[in-house]
Amino acid sequence: MGKSSKDKRDAYYRLAKEQSYRARSAFKLLHLATIFPILPNPPTAPTFALDLCAAPGSWSQVLSQRLHPDSKILALDLQPISPIPGVIAKQADITHPSTVKLIADVFGGNKAKLVVCDGAPDVMGLHDMDAYIQEELLLSALQLAKMVMDDGATFVAKIFRGQGELERGIWERMCGEGCFDRVTIAKPRSSRASSLEAFLVAEGWNGKRPEGMPNGPEWDFVACGDLADWDSDATFVLEEGREVKDPVQSPVAPPYKKAIERRRLLGGQASSIDPEKKREILGV
Ligand SMILES: C[S@@+](CC[C@H](N)C(=O)[O-])C[C@H]1O[C@@H](n2cnc3c(N)ncnc32)[C@H](O)[C@@H]1O
Repeated sequence: MGKSSKDKRDAYYRLAKEQSYRARSAFKLLHLATIFPILPNPPTAPTFALDLCAAPGSWSQVLSQRLHPDSKILALDLQPISPIPGVIAKQADITHPSTVKLIADVFGGNKAKLVVCDGAPDVMGLHDMDAYIQEELLLSALQLAKMVMDDGATFVAKIFRGQGELERGIWERMCGEGCFDRVTIAKPRSSRASSLEAFLVAEGWNGKRPEGMPNGPEWDFVACGDLADWDSDATFVLEEGREVKDPVQSPVAPPYKKAIERRRLLGGQASSIDPEKKREILGV
């Protein structure tokens, strides 16, 4: 996100930089934590936490600040994540089976008490298609989480609402072979009301469908974050004495970098480039 005039007025974009978060998404997790006991304050005991689709790392920053300092936090993403104190960051595809072993190795065979996933595929702007791909990513995250979660664990994941059937599909899969005590869909104040984004918070993983719960767990929809907090859909004039700060961490290997190199190459502006690198960029 650049420093366009709208970005400058987005309260959470500015606050993220002021509070040294790598992305405004940090506030979504913080707002979720105001109504769900995912980040006990003060932290109770060391725990194992997994941040799926974590780059650039603002959720991992929140986890490292709010969980017990002796906790083990593992952050995974397709993109490299530059180091965050207290977090082990690895490049991995959450849809690939080898990722289960990677997690088990890092956690020394221990299971995770908290799995969060703010994963988003590259959106195309075709709503139905975007929602479908998002759901596939969510199901991969859930599938992975089921293999690495401890009893009573919590699973938090981004979803796109508005697709009733998709939501029902997720519910069925959650309550089929494995189950949580309670599943809630929550909309944090920092998530734009104009966006279909919401977060699924599934608490109390028990690995099986409980007796006497034929229709699945309790299912609810809530808003979280204080109404007095900044409105994420509104734009605000920059208050006097306040300035827009630079990004805390520039992207390590942004997907657009290759596209820029390709355009320079095709435009004849990068003739001195190594031939092997040239072939790689052009994909020949
Ligand atoms: C919205 S960003 C996450 C922001 C992050 N929660 C934060 O606070 O900084 C979505 C991320 O999902 C990642 N992603 C998408 N598909 C993935 C996959 N199959 N495996 C791992 N990461 C994936 C993308 O690379 C991207 O970094």
